[in-house]
Amino acid sequence: MSILSGKNILLGISGGIAAYKTASLVRLFVKSGAHVKVVMTPSSKEFITPLTLSTLSKNPVYSSFTNEDDENSVWNNHVELGLWADLFVVAPATANTLAKMANGVCDNLLMATYLSAKCPVYFAPAMDLDMYKHPSTVRSFKVLASYGNIMIPATSGELASGLVGEGRMAEPEDIVSFIEDDILDKLPMRGKKVLITAGPTYEAIDPVRFIGNHSSGKMGFEIAKAAARLGAEVILVAGPTHEKVKHSNIKVIPVVSNKEMYDAVHAHFKVMDVAILSAAVADYRPKEVAKEKIKKKSDTLVLELEKTKDILASLGSIKEHQFLVGFALETNNELENAKDKLKRKNLNLIVLNSLNDKGAGFKSETNKVTFIDDKEHITEHQLKTKIQVAEDLMNKILKQINA
Ligand code: CTP
Repeated sequence: MSILSGKNILLGISGGIAAYKTASLVRLFVKSGAHVKVVMTPSSKEFITPLTLSTLSKNPVYSSFTNEDDENSVWNNHVELGLWADLFVVAPATANTLAKMANGVCDNLLMATYLSAKCPVYFAPAMDLDMYKHPSTVRSFKVLASYGNIMIPATSGELASGLVGEGRMAEPEDIVSFIEDDILDKLPMRGKKVLITAGPTYEAIDPVRFIGNHSSGKMGFEIAKAAARLGAEVILVAGPTHEKVKHSNIKVIPVVSNKEMYDAVHAHFKVMDVAILSAAVADYRPKEVAKEKIKKKSDTLVLELEKTKDILASLGSIKEHQFLVGFALETNNELENAKDKLKRKNLNLIVLNSLNDKGAGFKSETNKVTFIDDKEHITEHQLKTKIQVAEDLMNKILKQINA
């Protein structure tokens, strides 16, 4: 999934021959899952029709303050357009439009929208090579950089004038990857590796039966998605669950038993930056696993259980630079038990949820949690969706690792 998916992209087109390429650009943005609106300068309509762009973007195209074809003259609200945008991309950006952007000249709808937009602005210059090198254009680039606007540099090649040199607008595919990479590079967990456990474990009794629990895995999967949204590379070790996730930054390792989860976690922990163990791991398993299905011969059946390995505690005992997070599901004396677990398992943070809170627990869509860090700072949260809890948790971890 592209990082542009779900984003509102406002494409500003100014009047240069490269405007013909914006048809492909709009298609690529739409294909990446973005919502696209187009605002054009009057002269850009000489190079590509609003109808083409409207058809491809599936939205009306704006080029003047009022809709001149409409006898009621509806006002096109540049402030609303500017605020709607998550990203404003000016492509092609002519020398004229760049100079206006640098100086705040507001003589068309594109410029009024540019001045109203609060979102990141990208611009892809397109002009002849001498215009591209002119001190006035170079000055525009510098001024726009000082505003925080981001330049997608022109490339070298044959220009419409027949001359060969720098000034050709970046190709639509390159504009899209430039913007995707720029957004990804700025994500706060970019380059960080996060290990997460989720779901229950099943401990075999015989070939058809097991000891398990009601964990749905939802909390762990939401944490994985929240971490990936922040740019982290995630390894998600998941016990048996119906939850699914498809994200290029999330690698799912399916496991069944405590032993499999332990092995998978230990195979990856060394190179991780953060480990969040939200799985509801079985604490005991049958000492002997029957090779054949156990027959109901007698009225009672005694299973001898042995302790499983505590995965979280085992990580706590070997951790070096890693930020280690555990969960605690408690029924009584909650805060004290959670604090004790934090110390005993050598954690940086523990997420406490109490079975006494309505809406918290295994199968629900919601959770009510309290964070306790290793300085015993306690943050209590209201009942929230597991998606929000996952975001709160990732924000808390970010704050702690950057502190
Ligand atoms: N956990 C684990 N491996 C286990 C058991 C638990 O990694 N075998 C992790 C869970 O993923 C969770 C935390 O430990 O992060 C929860 O611990 P919990 O089972 O509640 O705590 P215990 O220390 O086993 O204490 P008790 O069961 O007595 O409350």
